[in-house]
Amino acid sequence: METDSYILVIGGTNMDLGARTLVPLTPRDSLPGMITKTPGGVGRNIAVTLAQLGHRVVMLTAVGDDAEGFELLELGREAGLDLSHARILEGVPTSMYVYLEDNTGEVQWAVCDASASDRIDRQYLAQNADLIRGASAVLLDTNPPADAIAYAAQIAAEAGVPIFVDPISAAKASKVSSILPLVTVIKPNKWEAQVLYGRPILTLANAEEAVISMLGAGVREVYLTLGGKGVVAGAKGERIMHMPGYAEHLVNTSGCGDSFIAAVIHAHLQGAGMKEKVKAGVAASSISMETKSAVNPALTAENLQKRMEII
Ligand SMILES: Nc1ncnc2c1ncn2[C@@H]1O[C@H](COP(=O)(O)OP(=O)(O)OP(=O)(O)O)[C@@H](O)[C@H]1O
Ligand SMILES: [Mg+2]
Repeated sequence: METDSYILVIGGTNMDLGARTLVPLTPRDSLPGMITKTPGGVGRNIAVTLAQLGHRVVMLTAVGDDAEGFELLELGREAGLDLSHARILEGVPTSMYVYLEDNTGEVQWAVCDASASDRIDRQYLAQNADLIRGASAVLLDTNPPADAIAYAAQIAAEAGVPIFVDPISAAKASKVSSILPLVTVIKPNKWEAQVLYGRPILTLANAEEAVISMLGAGVREVYLTLGGKGVVAGAKGERIMHMPGYAEHLVNTSGCGDSFIAAVIHAHLQGAGMKEKVKAGVAASSISMETKSAVNPALTAENLQKRMEII
């Protein structure tokens, strides 16, 4: 790897604040329980995983000038991210995801304040256009506004920088509909793919049709992940393939998709073909699910390689 090359991640950073009760939920009462605060955001999870895989990672993101914002910047730097270009917003709260789990661990409600991510806007990205042009790869999540995503994709495409997209949720997936012809790799899950495809995905055959439709729209490679059912992948000039999920020790699958696309980027930069990238994604997800947190610190290049050899 060239020492001055870097991957640019453009996307969300947030603080996840979770509460879990020790007793069944009852309204209008103060209940005993546990409260946890963990850094999150799809862009951030992918960025941290890429750093663990040995890459230099620069992130364009936004936080508020509050305690959570400074904590996220500090934790990100400790994780090896270059956050020197991150936007610190005056008077805007850091994006937060607050959720409440009952005593069985089921999420009963969740609230997301993403006002800071709305400020990963076109003007901020324009100020950092040279950083986009100089990257070896750009990863876009769908937290920024749609016009900002389109702007970044245009700049990257004009400079010949490969563009990787994680559509992050069904609600936000349509933000990338218009840039599909510019996209090198997209990794939607089933719900996001349904939005981009415009039809329900009920079977593997439907998933294949969705992949073909996205390739038809101009995406070079599609990795449609289907939770435990694995992934259906397609690339221009290659046969569609399916690989089932692999699990050795399943603790928590949240973040599996983030580690999947991080591993695909890692493999892509090493010159891997589609089959190898599928394997890297499935292997990375199987490591990711072994901890409760979205990013497993054990997901290193060495451990990824070892897991790829056994699946
Ligand atoms: N229950 C499971 N058993 C085995 N593998 C799984 C399971 N859930 C997820 N995976 C693996 O993780 C990959 C990505 O999962 P999924 O389709 O759930 O992504 P996602 O919805 O984007 O996840 P997230 O956004 O929470 O990171 C799958 O392709 C599969 O390889
Ligand atoms: Mg996902």
